[in-house]
Amino acid sequence: MEERELKVLRNEEIGFRTYLMVLEGEGLPEPKPGQFLMLSVSNTLEPLLRRAFAVAHFERDKVFLIYYLLGRGTHILSERKRGEVLRALLFLGKGTFKVFKKNLLVGGGVGLSALTYLAQEVLRQKKELFILYGGRTKRHLGLLPFLRELGLECEVFTEDGSFGKKGNLLKPTLEFDRSWVVQACGPRAMLKAFKEKLRDRKLYLSLEAPMACGYGVCLGCVVRGEDGKYYRVCVEGPVFEASKVVIK
Ligand SMILES: Cc1cc2nc3c(=O)[nH]c(=O)nc-3n(C[C@H](O)[C@H](O)[C@H](O)COP(=O)(O)OP(=O)(O)OC[C@H]3O[C@@H](n4cnc5c(N)ncnc54)[C@H](O)[C@@H]3O)c2cc1C
Ligand code: FES
Repeated sequence: MEERELKVLRNEEIGFRTYLMVLEGEGLPEPKPGQFLMLSVSNTLEPLLRRAFAVAHFERDKVFLIYYLLGRGTHILSERKRGEVLRALLFLGKGTFKVFKKNLLVGGGVGLSALTYLAQEVLRQKKELFILYGGRTKRHLGLLPFLRELGLECEVFTEDGSFGKKGNLLKPTLEFDRSWVVQACGPRAMLKAFKEKLRDRKLYLSLEAPMACGYGVCLGCVVRGEDGKYYRVCVEGPVFEASKVVIK
């Protein structure tokens, strides 16, 4: 882990409440798919705590993030201008995604941003890839322009049928045979349903949890394991084999 100063190259709204931010830092270490950074959203003490964002794409010296406008921190972040410098702890998390022979990546809402970097690694290694992307409605599919920018194809679902196929992501996931390893990120309720319904499948989940420090000290992010022990999402995660953790 290291703390770095990163220069804002891009910070633009690409979809409904969805922003793409590109940050530059000389000699940045190469992240692993699934890793994240803890970003100070301004250069003042307000808000005090850094915010966690997944690496959505990486190029030499540049890290790409996708964030959804949620509360105060992400609103402040959305006001950052090109050329400003922000501090970040990077790249965090020992529990990362892996590349398998057949990779089914399933992203609910902005959760897909934790999987786009993995998708590129799968293609680089010339393994099989299928991406399912879902949102409540058409406007909750804010990552579509980013997927186009990366040249990634996906099958799209909306719960109300306003774009793509109608329905949630569980049914299409179940239609893939067991040779496909499922790696997913999205709202807690989606991950809970995936764990319950895909018990007999290889399933990896990237978890989100409230994070104050991001490096294992505050214990604010712990989840209970099926073995009764507690695991820190920021250190042992954020990616866990679904069978190993309790999803509430
Ligand atoms: C490992 C990790 C990776 C993440 N990657 C991304 C990413 O790539 N893109 C992205 O948009 N977000 C991501 N998040 C979530 C992101 O950190 C939060 O959205 C952000 O911290 C919200 O900050 P805020 O100040 O805008 O909202 P706050 O003011 O802190 O919160 C506003 C409201 O949202 C709730 N809230 C805050 N965080 C979450 C959360 N994680 N899940 C559900 N509810 C929450 C709060 O309880 C509160 O009610 C990630 C989180 C983790 C732990
Ligand atoms: S966020 Fe502090 S221990 Fe994980």
